[in-house]
Amino acid sequence: MNKDRLLHEGKAKKVFLTENSDLVIQEFKDDATAFNNKKKGSILNKGVVNNAVSCKLFTYLQEQGIPTHFVEKLSDRDMLCKHLDIIKVEVVVRNVAAGSLVRRYGFREGTLLDTPIVELYLKDDELDDPLMNESHAVALGLANHEELETLKSLATRINSLLRDFFASRKLRLVDFKLEFGRHKGGILLGDEISPDTCRFWDLDTGEKMDKDRFRFDLGGVEDAYAEVQHRVLNEN
Ligand code: TMP
Repeated sequence: MNKDRLLHEGKAKKVFLTENSDLVIQEFKDDATAFNNKKKGSILNKGVVNNAVSCKLFTYLQEQGIPTHFVEKLSDRDMLCKHLDIIKVEVVVRNVAAGSLVRRYGFREGTLLDTPIVELYLKDDELDDPLMNESHAVALGLANHEELETLKSLATRINSLLRDFFASRKLRLVDFKLEFGRHKGGILLGDEISPDTCRFWDLDTGEKMDKDRFRFDLGGVEDAYAEVQHRVLNEN
């Protein structure tokens, strides 16, 4: 499979069309941004880690019956995927209060949420990905009610599966962001699942093991990414 033409370049990935119009290649970069591009930098080897972690997690979710765009890992930085019509809704699921939940609603960081919180954000960099509800998404023509129900129920199932997966690797899944797309009449999980798009805290020490180390200059960014990769790829 070849990278025929650049279809889209995002902040962390490039997406290429291939000779098969149903398949694209996601190439994971080391570029890192935070706070919607206000902070820019690079994390050595991040693309390799995020590709490896995402491939493993998509494979696991697929085995558990979640439909995803993942086809196969092509190389260190390249993932072959089904070509989706991306739904411009980012779905965030939270198990523990952190990040914008703390800033927006005054939760104390680390508060356990009895029931996971599911949030929708408009995927639009120009507008800073604003938080929105279902009515906004429907009014904007992004998806219909039935599709949004599917997104929320898939996100909730994925949360249960990933929480168990990470707990067995001594990581607490604090929160994460998912993207979905349409494909042949169905809805598939797309994008990536990685330390860029999730918060992980070490189960024993509470140490942050994700992109927050880059966002807030906590140091040890590369080591944290490498440790997450190690724990995800190695069965206990
Ligand atoms: P937040 O607390 O900043 O709203 O982030 C919630 C989760 O979503 C966190 O795990 C990071 C992830 N996320 C992204 O993957 N991309 C984004 O653009 C944002 C804002 C958050």
